[in-house]
Amino acid sequence: MILPIYIYGQPVLRKVAQDIDVENYLNLKELIDNMFETMYYADGVGLAGPQVGLSDRIFVVDLSPLASDEHPEFKDFKKVFINAHITERSGDLEMVEEGCLSIPGIHEKVPREGEVTIAYLDEDLQPREEHYSGFMARVIQHEYDHLDGVLFTDRISPLRKRMVKNKLANMEKGKVACDYKIRTVR
Ligand code: NI
Repeated sequence: MILPIYIYGQPVLRKVAQDIDVENYLNLKELIDNMFETMYYADGVGLAGPQVGLSDRIFVVDLSPLASDEHPEFKDFKKVFINAHITERSGDLEMVEEGCLSIPGIHEKVPREGEVTIAYLDEDLQPREEHYSGFMARVIQHEYDHLDGVLFTDRISPLRKRMVKNKLANMEKGKVACDYKIRTVR
């Protein structure tokens, strides 16, 4: 089932998401399926719980559509991160352009650390701790930010913030156009 994606201005995007009680969570498998379906429908490579209105510490990522000769490692990078906690960030800050399904129409360069270590439960509820670098580290940090109520526009330069201020203000008022199912505040 395709879920509506919550748009900038929705309070749930600003809340710190909580760990899921995986033993008692209702329909976790169904939620994961729905999150992937929603993400594919909107042409995204990542989607976090708060973006579908849930203040739960879960996100999904699938980089396989971006796989290439240069980046064969993306091919198998379809993952679910449950109760995710970044345990270490390192490496130099890199500036790369990002977008977000909750902030349609805005793309800006965002500084992020080049490497990240993350502890989480996979879709079989097995605990894992993994180290990522490059674009994978970036996508993970972007999605992880959602779990902490942080959006990529919080991390852009003061000048760029001023440039997108009106667009964001319109989004907060529900003035936004996009071709997937969304939920605005109004
Ligand atoms: Ni996002």
